Amino acid sequence: AYVDGRLTPLRDAHVHVEDRGLQFADALYEVTAVLNGKMLDWPHHIARLRRNCAALFIDFAMSDAALTLQARRLIAVNGQADALLYLQLSRGTAKRDHGFPANPRPTLVMTVRRFDFHQRTAQQKTGVKVITVNDMRWRRVDMKTTGLLANVLAKQDARAAGAFEAWLVAPDNTVREGGSTNAYIVKAGRLITHPLSESILPGIARATLLRLAREAQIPIDERPFSLAEALAADEALLTSTTAPLLPVVRIDENAIGTGSPGPMASRLAALVSAEIT
Ligand code: PDD
Repeated sequence: AYVDGRLTPLRDAHVHVEDRGLQFADALYEVTAVLNGKMLDWPHHIARLRRNCAALFIDFAMSDAALTLQARRLIAVNGQADALLYLQLSRGTAKRDHGFPANPRPTLVMTVRRFDFHQRTAQQKTGVKVITVNDMRWRRVDMKTTGLLANVLAKQDARAAGAFEAWLVAPDNTVREGGSTNAYIVKAGRLITHPLSESILPGIARATLLRLAREAQIPIDERPFSLAEALAADEALLTSTTAPLLPVVRIDENAIGTGSPGPMASRLAALVSAEIT
C-alpha cells in the first residue's frame, strides 16, 4: 500500500484514528482498473478527483505527474498484471470538529489488489440480475466520496437476493444508477441512460460506453427513465470500472426482453472489450 508518501506492506498500512475520512467520510476515492500492469483511463480518474477536490475545498498539492509516479511504483511493486487500484484522499487528520481544520494536510492512501476481469466474461454471456431499492443517498452523489452507507446497504440487499446489483430508484420512480454501477436500458435500438446531474456518478466506463456507441452511430438518449419503462425495455445493461459492461436480464422478478442478453448488449460488450484489451 501507499500511505502518505511511503510504500508499506498492506498489513502495516494504517491511517490515524482521527483521520477525517474515518470520522466524517470527509474523503474522496477513485477505483481504477489495472490491465496488463497498465492503468486504464487514468487521466480521467485524476480529472474527476481534481474536480471533486475543488468542489469540497480539499487542497491536494501533489502534481499529476507525482501522483502517477506513485501509483505506477505501487503497481510495479505489487506485481499484479490485472488489479484494481484504490485511491483515497481525505481532508486530513485533526481533533474532531465538523468545520475544516486550520491547516489540513490531506491523507492519501492507495492499494492495489488483484482482480480477475475474466470472471466478467461468464457474466457477460448469461447476463446478471438486479433488484431495485429506494435511493436513500444524499443529493450530491456526483462527487465520489467515501460516504457510501446507502450504497453498502443497497448492495447487501442485492447480495442477499442473489442479484449482482441494486438499482437505486428516485421518489418519482426514475432509475438513477446502481449501487456501484451506471444503468442503461435499450428500447427500439436506442441506448437510454440517466443524464449527468448531481444525482448520479459520472462514471468513466459510462463516458467510454457513450463514446463507443456514438462512434458506432447507435442513437443515445441521455434522459431519466422510469422503472416501468425499464421493465418494458428490450434490454438493460450496466457499466463500471469493475464491470465494464454487463447485460441485465432480470429486474426484481421480471425478465427483461427475452430474459437473455440481447443484440445491443452483445454489440456494446464487443466494442468495450476491443477498447480495453
Ligand atoms: N464504483 N455509480 C456509482 C454509484 C459508483 O460507485 C460507480 C463506481 C459507478 C461507475 O463509475 P466508473 O465507471 O467510474 O467506475 C457508478 C466503484 C467502481 C466502486 O465504488 O467500487
